Amino acid sequence: MKKYYVAIAFLAILGACGDNKTESKDAKPAATEDLSANPDYQKGIELIAKSDCLTCHKVSEKLTGPAYKDVAAKYENTDANVSLLTEKIIKGGTGVWGAIPMTPHAALSEADAKQMVKYILLLRNK
Ligand code: HEC
Repeated sequence: MKKYYVAIAFLAILGACGDNKTESKDAKPAATEDLSANPDYQKGIELIAKSDCLTCHKVSEKLTGPAYKDVAAKYENTDANVSLLTEKIIKGGTGVWGAIPMTPHAALSEADAKQMVKYILLLRNK
């Protein structure tokens, strides 16, 4: 009997997620026109503003690190690339854009770093 309730609860959660997805899908056409209305954009930009990223990165100009628009142009917005860049932000790295290394951000949670990457990759063709 207990199993049955667990299954119901699980289905209810799944149902709730499903609903959210439909909502965000509906919101998408507007989001592509106005990036600032996209929740991934807003959350990402907030996290980046709170961290040290902007001391080395700008949206459209190269600073110590590559411009975020250039990063977005280089990497297609795929799960594999999001994971790769998330790891790169946390662990740091060098050699992709030049000899200057990016410092590691070990204190950053994977979820936060991922959210930052999602924001950066939204800047493609902007
Ligand atoms: C000390 C300067 C510095 C800081 C701070 C910094 N970066 Fe970087 N970042 C770099 C440099 C330099 C590179 C290029 C590294 C390379 O060539 O592999 C880079 C590369 C990147 C890339 C592209 C990685 C790749 O493999 O193509 C992303 C994405 C990125 N940074 C995001 C961030 C985010 C998000 C933050 C804040 C949490 C951040 N960076 C903070 C200097 C910095």
